[in-house]
This record gives sequence, C-alpha cells and structure tokens, in this order.
Amino acid sequence: MIAGQPSIWYAPSLCFVMLDLRRFKDFKVTDPVYSSLMLAAEKAGDITPAIYNRYFSQCPGSQQLMSHIDELVQGKMMEEVFRLIMVEQYEQESAYLNFEVKNHKYAYSVLPHMYENLLEAVHYTVRAALRKDWSEEFERAWQARISALIGEIEQRQDAAY
Ligand code: HEM
Repeated sequence: MIAGQPSIWYAPSLCFVMLDLRRFKDFKVTDPVYSSLMLAAEKAGDITPAIYNRYFSQCPGSQQLMSHIDELVQGKMMEEVFRLIMVEQYEQESAYLNFEVKNHKYAYSVLPHMYENLLEAVHYTVRAALRKDWSEEFERAWQARISALIGEIEQRQDAAY
C-alpha cells in the first residue's frame, strides 16, 4: 500500500476494463471468458491482490522482479492483462504486443515462462472466485484464450521489432 493513500487502487480495475471494452461495437458480451470475469467481479470484488498472491507463490522469480513496484503500477499492469484476456482476436493487438513483449524482455528482464504463470494465476483466481458456478464451458474458453495469448507472446520473444 502507498503511505497515506487508501488501498483503493485495485478496486475499479476489472470493472473499468469491462465497461471500456463494451464501448467497442464488435465486442461480444457472450464470450465465456468475459462472462466469468464479470461473475468473479460480482462475487469477489477486486481480485487483483489475490491474483498477485497466487502468482508470486507460484513464480517466486517474478516477485523479486516486481519488488520495486507499488500497487498502483501492479493495478495498471493487471488492467492490461484483463483487457488482453478479454480480447478474442489478437490481430488488432499486434503493435501493443510487439511493444510490451520487447519492453518486458529487455527493460524488465521478464522470462517467457513468467507469462504463462501469470495467466495461470488469473485463471486459478477467477475459477476460485466462481466456485460452484465455474463450468466446463468456462474452462474450455479459458484454456483456449490463454493458449492463444501465450502463442502471441511466444512468437514475439525472439523477434527484433
Ligand atoms: C500479458 C502480460 C503482461 C502485460 C499486458 C503487462 C503490462 C504491463 C504494463 C502496461 C506495465 C506498465 C504499468 C505502468 O507503469 O503504468 C507493466 C509493468 C511491469 N511489468 Fe508487466 N505485463 C505483463 C506481464 C508481466 C510479467 C509476466 C512480468 C513478470 C514479472 C511483468 C513485469 C513487469 C514489471 C517488472 C513492470 C514494471 C517495470 C517498471 O516500471 O520498472 N509483466 N506491465
């Protein structure tokens, strides 16, 4: 937490990202990944701290790497992670992914396996928040989305943009 500031930084992130995405005409609210995130926000509120707790417990090198970052930056990064997870076609994200993957590799020393651990932490936390409302359909949609996003990230790891 930032000294003197209330711990509200995370709270709006997931809801804001979802509302923002709905402004786009072609955004499908029928996407099971979107629906499950919406349910998680309704049931558990701000899930960002739980995601980072899970992530750091499963990927200790990442905790060290992010140790200089405050909750505000963690929250901003998670907004982008939520946004990317809710994207169904990554073509339109090409320039953004080129920039972030390169930046994360060379400026922040992020290793490839850390992305998968992060996305798995989001998946795990959303599933835990939904409990009995988690379904086969959600599981299939999440596995497909994570696999697609990881594929996009992996193909940029060695590229020189
Ligand atoms: C798809 C996955 C990811 C996305 C979209 C993403 C996005 C971002 C964004 C937008 C920021 C800048 C936040 C700001 O300052 O406003 C950021 C910062 C950062 N991210 Fe990520 N990130 C991802 C994955 C990761 C992973 C796996 C790690 C590994 C630990 C990581 C480590 C960092 C670090 C260390 C910073 C802060 C760098 C600094 O300012 O010193 N990120 N990320």
